[in-house]
This record gives sequence, C-alpha cells and structure tokens, in this order.
Amino acid sequence: MDKVSTSFGSPFRRVLLAGLLLHRSLEDSHISRFVPPGSQGAFVVSGFRHGQTVPLRLSSGSASRRFVTTISVPLGSRSYDVCIGPSGVDETVDRIAQGLGETTGVAVLVDSRLGQVSPRVRPLVAALRARLPRVQRWDLPAGETCKNLAAIERTCDWLAEHGYDRGAALVVLGGGAASDHAGFAASIYLRGIAYATCPTTLLAMVDASVGGKTGVDITSGKNLVGAFHQPRAVVADLEFLQTLPAREVAAGLAEVVKAGLIADASLFDRLERHAGSTLPTEVLGQIIEAAVRVKVDVVADDERESGRRAILNFGHTVGHAIEAASGFTLLHGEAVSLGMVAALRLGVLRGVTDPALLGRTTRLLARLGLPVDLDPWLRDDVLDRIEVDKKRVSQAVRFVLVPHPGQAVLAPIEFGDLKEQIRRAL
Ligand SMILES: NC(=O)c1ccc[n+]([C@@H]2O[C@H](COP(=O)([O-])OP(=O)(O)OC[C@H]3O[C@@H](n4cnc5c(N)ncnc54)[C@H](O)[C@@H]3O)[C@@H](O)[C@H]2O)c1
Ligand SMILES: [Zn+2]
Repeated sequence: MDKVSTSFGSPFRRVLLAGLLLHRSLEDSHISRFVPPGSQGAFVVSGFRHGQTVPLRLSSGSASRRFVTTISVPLGSRSYDVCIGPSGVDETVDRIAQGLGETTGVAVLVDSRLGQVSPRVRPLVAALRARLPRVQRWDLPAGETCKNLAAIERTCDWLAEHGYDRGAALVVLGGGAASDHAGFAASIYLRGIAYATCPTTLLAMVDASVGGKTGVDITSGKNLVGAFHQPRAVVADLEFLQTLPAREVAAGLAEVVKAGLIADASLFDRLERHAGSTLPTEVLGQIIEAAVRVKVDVVADDERESGRRAILNFGHTVGHAIEAASGFTLLHGEAVSLGMVAALRLGVLRGVTDPALLGRTTRLLARLGLPVDLDPWLRDDVLDRIEVDKKRVSQAVRFVLVPHPGQAVLAPIEFGDLKEQIRRAL
C-alpha cells in the first residue's frame, strides 16, 4: 500500500497527497471517509490505510474554538493536574513549570521520531530553555525501542554526565513508550527525581500519561520491570496529533472505546455518533477529557492496582495474548480491539453481556478502522498465552466483563475453564 509520510515536502503537498490517497481508498475500503484538505478545526477519526498520515487540521487562533481543560488527579501529596488542549507553547511551559516547582535543571527527553516529524518540538524545547534552569535535550530511540534496560542505563548515564542532581527533573515529549521510559528513569535515577509529561500520541494522552505506571520490557515480556512513579504535571497539547499516523490514532481510539464501555455510557454514545465523521477540535478534546476522567477516577480509587483498577484491563486479557502472538505486528490498541470483542462474546456466553452491545461495539470498532475479526486468532498458541498473563491471581483470571455500556464487572474464571469458555465464545 502506498504510504504518505512527512517526506513528501510542504504541508500543503502532504495534505493534498493524503487527501488523494484517502479519496482513492474510499473506492476500495468500506471504512474510509474523505476529509477535504484544508478543513479547519477538524480531526478525522476513521478512514485510513495503515501508514497514511491523517490529513487533519486543528483550529488555531480563534478563541472560541480553543479547547482547554484541566483535570486534577487527587493522590494526596502526589496529586497533579492533567491539562488537555491546544494550549500553545507558552501555556504548556507555564503548566510544566508550575507542576515541577523549583528545580536545579531540566532534561527534556524527546522521542526521536517525534523530534523529526513534529514542528512543535523545537519551539517547545526553546521555550522550556527560556523558562527553566539548565535545559538540555536528550533524544530517545523512537517508540518501543526505548523501552529496555540498556536504553534506561544510557539515559541515566547521560543525566549523570551532564550533572543532573536530585533537584533536577525530566520533561518527556513522546508517546506511551517514551513516557514509560522517562517515568521509570525518573523513578530510579538518584533514587527518584521529578518528571512531567507531554503526551504526543492519542494513546498516551488518554491512557499512558495517567496513573503513574512506568517501566520497560525485558526478554521475558513487556512491562515486566517498572515502578509506580507519579508525574508532577501532564500537558496534552492536541496540536501534536497533527503528525500522528492514522493507524496510531485508531489504536488510541480503542482505549477510548474501552473507557466508554467500562465507565462512561455517554462517551460510548458520543463515539458512535461521531465515528467516521470529521471531528471539531472541541469534540476531540471532550472525548479525550472523558477518557482521561475515567482513568483518573479509577486510578484515584486504586493507585496501586489492587482492586478496582483491574477494570482498566477490559479487553486486555485476550488482547495481550493476541498482541504477543502477532509478534507485536499488531499495535496494542488493535489487539485490545480484538480483545474487547472476545470479552464481550464471553460476556454474552455467560449471560452477563447484552447481546446487542456486542453488535454495537463491533460495528463501532470497525468504523474506527480497528480489527474485529477474531477467527485468525482462535489458535491454541494464542489461548495458551492468556495463562501466562502477569495479572493472574492464584488459579483464576480476573476477567472483566461489560453487561451494558458504562458498567464493568470482574468475573474470576478458573484457568481450567477459561480456554474452553473462550473457545466456545469465539
Ligand atoms: N504506563 C501506562 O499506564 C501505560 C498505559 C498504556 C500503554 N503504555 C505503554 O505505552 C506504549 C505505547 O504507547 P503509544 O501508543 O503512545 O506508542 P509509542 O510511544 O510507541 O508511539 C508510537 C509511534 O508514534 C511515534 N510518535 C509519537 N508521537 C508522535 C507524533 N505526535 N507524531 C508522529 N509520530 C509520533 C513514536 O515515535 C512511535 O513510533 C507501550 O509501550 C505501552 O506499554 C503504558
Ligand atoms: Zn491498553
């Protein structure tokens, strides 16, 4: 499939090419929608072929179109604010500076791919430099390739070589991988320093940046080494999404669908209303806000994942197994999409889930450009992986089921029964 990447010259040319490709894909893809080049204040939420750049434009200038909101994460002395909006470089820096408080120096960790494609990075680093003490930039390997212990050691060495002390702080610009790396480095460097995040992917905005889980992958599995370490501030500038590939946007939307299903029926309804159409920035902002609120509510209830936080794993028990079985060729959100379909089917089989919800959700996910066909994954090697999920408790898996939009229940299912039940459900 043709790719539209940022190597296609001027923004206008890129938008035009992306538009032409999307227009063409309308003819051969039932999920595509064409967004006219130049549509203002808008965001397309479906209609892509993997690898294409979304031809989205966010509003700028007009105050009435600005969307800025702040959500407090109430965790006692570790409380912090999540700011969502096209807040502009100065506002972003203000919020980071406020969150960090007094520091002796700031290391800005930048996902290197983001650094290459986003025109937002340089001005932001420059503004941080103008505002905060001893600001230096350190580029991380792009995406998941920064999530390993060797990369953490390189970051910690770099911090030490550059004289960052215990009063220093990290600011990370990037997706969930970069923020997991930076949060984990911040949790262990000199036994813990402060950090703030600027999530730049939809998934990082709605999920990874809230909750304080940090960590890296090891040979035995993903996210097996890490720490709980809360950031001092999260500033999600929607402008960053301008350069995010459409496939990554869809993967982020899978977690938004999950948030609606487990805890916010009106978010689920809103997604159904808007899927496949062009979103004004305000609506995108409100959708992100609603998803963040779900995560904040659950995390504030259960910071250390001992109880209610488990509902965030909806779609993840089977999703993780599929993600690993795909050799990580599927994005996390894509695997979660399949995992949610599996969990809903299991719920229907057990008489917990309204059968109509299975149909609604499957249609919604497909319209968002996410995979829903479980047939290729109904294999023993996939089902076997469920049993090694690190979230298992004793001999049972805490399976999250959704009876109706906005409700989640935990159903312990014995390992012995699980494989058979899933097989019957799928
Ligand atoms: N800590 C948590 O609570 C939590 C929750 C969910 C996921 N995660 C972790 O987050 C990671 C996935 O995060 P992700 O989906 O953000 O992926 P990612 O961080 O790997 O980013 C995806 C890709 O997009 C690029 N990118 C980032 N921002 C961009 C932008 N604005 N424009 C263009 N390209 C951009 C990155 O270089 C990368 O190639 C996984 O490692 C997962 O384990 C953590
Ligand atoms: Zn997830």
